[in-house]
Amino acid sequence: MLEQIRELQAQALAELAAASTPEALEAWRVAYLGRKGALSNLLRGLGNLPTAERPAAGQAANETKAALEAALAARQEALQSQALAQALEAERVDVTLPGKPPALGQVHVITQTIREILDCFVGMGFQVVEGPEVEWDKYNFTMLNIPPDHPARDIWDTFYIAGWEGQMLLRTHTSPMQARVMERTQPPVRVVVPGFCYRHEATDATHESQFYQIEGLAVDEGITLADLKGVLDVFARALFGAERQTRFRCDYFPFVEPGVEMAIDCFLCKGQGCRVCKHTGWIEIMGAGMVHPNVLAGVGYDPTVYSGFAFGLGPERVAMLKYGIDDIRYFYANDLRFLRQFR
Ligand code: DAH
Repeated sequence: MLEQIRELQAQALAELAAASTPEALEAWRVAYLGRKGALSNLLRGLGNLPTAERPAAGQAANETKAALEAALAARQEALQSQALAQALEAERVDVTLPGKPPALGQVHVITQTIREILDCFVGMGFQVVEGPEVEWDKYNFTMLNIPPDHPARDIWDTFYIAGWEGQMLLRTHTSPMQARVMERTQPPVRVVVPGFCYRHEATDATHESQFYQIEGLAVDEGITLADLKGVLDVFARALFGAERQTRFRCDYFPFVEPGVEMAIDCFLCKGQGCRVCKHTGWIEIMGAGMVHPNVLAGVGYDPTVYSGFAFGLGPERVAMLKYGIDDIRYFYANDLRFLRQFR
């Protein structure tokens, strides 16, 4: 009997060593340690032994049972840690690899330029306000001293809103905000108004059908053309260099009288004449003027008490000059190779 027990144990341990899956381990357990397994069979035979042999055989059988159970537990643990090691190896993450840098956005060059321009006027006490891009004809034209059917309307190629022709349109300039601001405020007024404008125009190197303008307006008692010139001088020097000279010449805009066109001396050739200033030594920057009495009266301001100046400029043009860009269409083509140059 003792011999049988020893053989059983040796055979069981050999088979256990060869079992390498959870299923094989379970089958082994049933075969040797199960209720109908080999060891139970042996134990059942104990009763047939002579009484003197029973204790030794019983003890040996129990020792074998304990040995097999311990061996099973050890084997299970070994297989588990092997499986874990394999899984870890297979799912290995190399934490030493550098991460993928997130793509960083940036402020568009025109937004940068607008902020720079606004900063300059804010520094002189102007407030930034914005207004609607879909505008009433009344604000875009009539209240700016451009009555219906007046030929001056031809200056602006206008997109009208279908079904609202003659009444509602895409604003052709930011000037309508002059009337809107004055209508809801009493003097003193000092505002700058950035925003998109729209014109029904063929695009080329200097024209887009959608573009920005920045409007300026200052109204108070006793404002003169000298204030206009002083403020725009500060602007020209802030954006184009402290040594800039400015030039004001007569121009026509229906909502100002007198109206002027402001130019700076060419910062590239210092007035000698070059391609950028078209060999004139001067670069035109914006339209401006003293607010027309009809515009003041139209919003309920007494033009004998109040006066003011207004100006309108194109930030795209400012950026083109500052950065030497020769085609306005680059700004809105959304080509990152172009835009990323302006960090
Ligand atoms: N609104 C004009 C335009 O789009 C620009 C302009 C000229 C604005 C003179 C002004 C101004 O405020 O005084 O062509």
